[in-house]
Order: sequence, then C-alpha cells, then structure tokens
Amino acid sequence: MEKRPSDHSDKNIEFKEGVPVSLLFDDVYFSKQGGWEESNYVFFNGNEIESKIKDDDQTVFRIGELGFGSGLNLFVALENWTSLQNPKSMEFISLEGYPLAAEILFTLNQSYPDKNLWFPELIHSYESAKEIWENDNTKNTWTYVWNHKTNSSQFSLKVYFGDIQICLPSFPIIHAWYFDGFSPGKNPDMWSKDTLNLVRQKTISGTSFATFSSAGFLRRSLSELGFLVEKKKGFGRKREMISGFLK
Ligand SMILES: C[S@@+](CC[C@H](N)C(=O)[O-])C[C@H]1O[C@@H](n2cnc3c(N)ncnc32)[C@H](O)[C@@H]1O
Repeated sequence: MEKRPSDHSDKNIEFKEGVPVSLLFDDVYFSKQGGWEESNYVFFNGNEIESKIKDDDQTVFRIGELGFGSGLNLFVALENWTSLQNPKSMEFISLEGYPLAAEILFTLNQSYPDKNLWFPELIHSYESAKEIWENDNTKNTWTYVWNHKTNSSQFSLKVYFGDIQICLPSFPIIHAWYFDGFSPGKNPDMWSKDTLNLVRQKTISGTSFATFSSAGFLRRSLSELGFLVEKKKGFGRKREMISGFLK
C-alpha cells in the first residue's frame, strides 16, 4: 500500500492494552510488555550509551533514531541523561514521516504516570512545527533543548518530518543508531539497502547501533556495510536482538 503522511490521522491509530498500534503498518509503537524497559534495554543499553556520555568533555554525543513515533525512546534517553552527574551534551536526532496527533501523545503520559514525559510547552512546540511542515514541507524540523542541572551541558532534540529517504541525508554524523521503524516484515522501506546506505554515510568508525530485530537479511546487509553485528538476548519474550558498531 502507498502510504502518505496525511494518511496517518487518528483514525489509523488504535490502542491495545494502553499501547498505540498503527493500523497503517499493522504494528505496535512499543512493546506491550513494558515499552519503557524495552527502550532502555534494546536501545540505550544496547548501544552502551551511559558509559559513553559520562565524561563531561566538550564533545557532543549524537543518537540517531529512525522513527520518532510517540517519543518514548527520547524520554528514556533524556531521563538517563538527566540522572547522571555532569554528563556531556547530547543531541537526539530523529525523523518521522507520519507524526502522531497531540491527543495520542498525551496517552503516553497516561501509560507512564510516574514519568516526566510530554508537558504542555513541549506538545505545543511539536504541534506548531508539525503544522508548519504540513503547510510547507520544506520547513521540516522541530527542535527543543533541555539544560542539565549539574553542569552546562544540554540535551538537544531535532526531529525531521518527512519520509526517511528525504530526511536521512540531512542528518549529521551519528554516534549511536536506534533502528526503530516497525518490524522489517511490516515496513521494509525503513530497512532497505537504500536506507542502510544512507545510514552508513552518516556513520563513523566506532558508531554503534541497536535494534529489536535480528532478521537475517538485516545482519547480512549491516555486515556488508562494515558493521560488526552481534546477536543478544531480546527483551521480554523476544528471543534475539542485534547490536554492534562500525569497524
Ligand atoms: C515503531 S514506531 C517508532 C516508535 C518510537 N521510536 C517511539 O519511541 O514511540 C516506527 C515509526 O516510524 C515511522 N515511519 C514508518 N515508515 C516511515 C518512513 N518511510 N519514513 C519516515 N518515518 C516512517 C512511523 O510513522 C512510526 O512512528
């Protein structure tokens, strides 16, 4: 099915056990068995980010995410960064072709009442950027910045709205990738050779990646591009996931 950004209105989302499900892609935004813990396990720990951001030096650590969705991965990374003493600055660069409506983002707050997630100013800033993009698709970025409490470092968010093939070329060099574009069987575009070639162009030696999928074609494609690929135990009931880095 040809999918366009305007297709992803509220009618294409339904909730199952508190988790948003895309009817367009027939897949969940995050795991029903603990989305927060899954994001922490697969993406944040899978990329060993804590050890990489602990020292307060001048360099900025950049996460690149494929599929912003509800922002759950953002909030997990932000909470981890906030809880560290004197971490270095971070940039969380993401992309999203079918941005969710604000009403749906608010449900994330209901799913995680003890967490600090979407607050009114953040939602407002997201909605205005989304509206600008919907009226003029050349203006496709949304940015937001958080300051750290114990030093002068910052956590900067930048989301590009649009299709992955359009957004990825604008990404800066990334230090850790989160591949989170629905499962490959349900959304092959997010895992195609074209996509992975663009990812490779934004990757330097030592850049890591992590993903919930352990599909054979993905392992082979990443290996061919020069990544060292390792299988690990998956989160919850998932048997395997993969992570690794560019040699
Ligand atoms: C599994 S969800 C991401 C979940 C998200 N990381 C979170 O924390 O909620 C995958 C996302 O990829 C987006 N997506 C799918 N195909 C895309 C494409 N071709 N270009 C851009 N975004 C796409 C979907 O709209 C969806 O929001």
